Amino acid sequence: MTGPSLASVLAAVPMPLVLIGADERVIAANAAAGQLFGTAAEGFHYITVLRQPVLLDIVEAALKTGRRREAPFLTRDGERDVTFNAVAVPANGRAVMLSLEDISHVQAAGEMRRDFVANVSHELRTPLTALIGFIETLQGPARGDPDAQARFLEIMEREAGRMSRLIEDLLSLSRVESQERVRPTERVDVANLVTSASMTLGAFAQESDTELVVRGNEDGMEVIGDPDQLLQVFTNLIENGIKYGGGTVTVTLERQERDPALRGPALRVEVADNGEGIDPLHIPRLTERFYRIDSHRSREMGGTGLGLAIVKHIVNRHRGRLRIESQKGQGSRFSVVLPA
Ligand SMILES: Nc1ncnc2c1ncn2[C@@H]1O[C@H](COP(=O)(O)OP(=O)(O)O)[C@@H](O)[C@H]1O
Ligand SMILES: [Mg+2]
Repeated sequence: MTGPSLASVLAAVPMPLVLIGADERVIAANAAAGQLFGTAAEGFHYITVLRQPVLLDIVEAALKTGRRREAPFLTRDGERDVTFNAVAVPANGRAVMLSLEDISHVQAAGEMRRDFVANVSHELRTPLTALIGFIETLQGPARGDPDAQARFLEIMEREAGRMSRLIEDLLSLSRVESQERVRPTERVDVANLVTSASMTLGAFAQESDTELVVRGNEDGMEVIGDPDQLLQVFTNLIENGIKYGGGTVTVTLERQERDPALRGPALRVEVADNGEGIDPLHIPRLTERFYRIDSHRSREMGGTGLGLAIVKHIVNRHRGRLRIESQKGQGSRFSVVLPA
């Protein structure tokens, strides 16, 4: 019987594979294994090829007992830490096949989840600790002091508001994430949404001594989208412009015959401020959950650090792009490009 050779079968598998015979010598190893252990492994004793104690242990045990053995194996691939699940399985008589499955992404996802839970807990604990402290003060030292009571209740209201906003944003984020693969279907007038967002924020802009200007707001600027979510995007960006930028916040709407990234007609909504701008160092990380340049300032302003993460997910759901440009000292520009 002729068929593909053992070497060509192993070569077709992307994960590192090493086949070890009953005589403890390497029968075959594929290219992926070659990258890890060096090429020219065939015919050598597995100890000299594999060298790593974890791998030697499971191969030895599998050879001896004829049973499957597995263990996590940590190594470095250039700049990157890699975690493999190494499995030694008896194959074809007394040989053993060692395979290494890269589980780094599973590991990274677990780490992200743990970080997220730690961040949420921390963000909730701070206002909660304040609330508990003030309740104790109101029950004790401030019992007969109406002035202090009024002052403390005001702070308590603010802290409770902070917790409530955080919960709102977390729910919003999880909703948006769960819908990310569901395409929106409604025909939406973007100009209307921008008008509506800037009207809602008009009073806030005035309080903050910021001029809010909308340009290019014409009829017929439509996309297929989710109106509530797109309103949330524009509100978030304009609000950020007022909170962290200031001076003048200019919202510009523009039709584009062809956006190079979207490879088709698009609608661009740009929110520009002329505040202090953002250090290029921070720009790629702004859409991470809870990432803030100045957390103290963000908290003062009632921010949760989730706004841009929500924006990013909504824009992704619309198959659009979010671009952030800024020059320190010259303000920032956040553009949303939506396929039209
Ligand atoms: N227009 C802007 N100018 C300067 N910094 C900004 C601007 N927009 C956002 N940022 C920075 O990005 C961070 C994240 O924004 P966001 O996710 O909306 O969170 P939040 O507004 O709740 O703080 C802000 O805390 C702020 O540091
Ligand atoms: Mg925000």
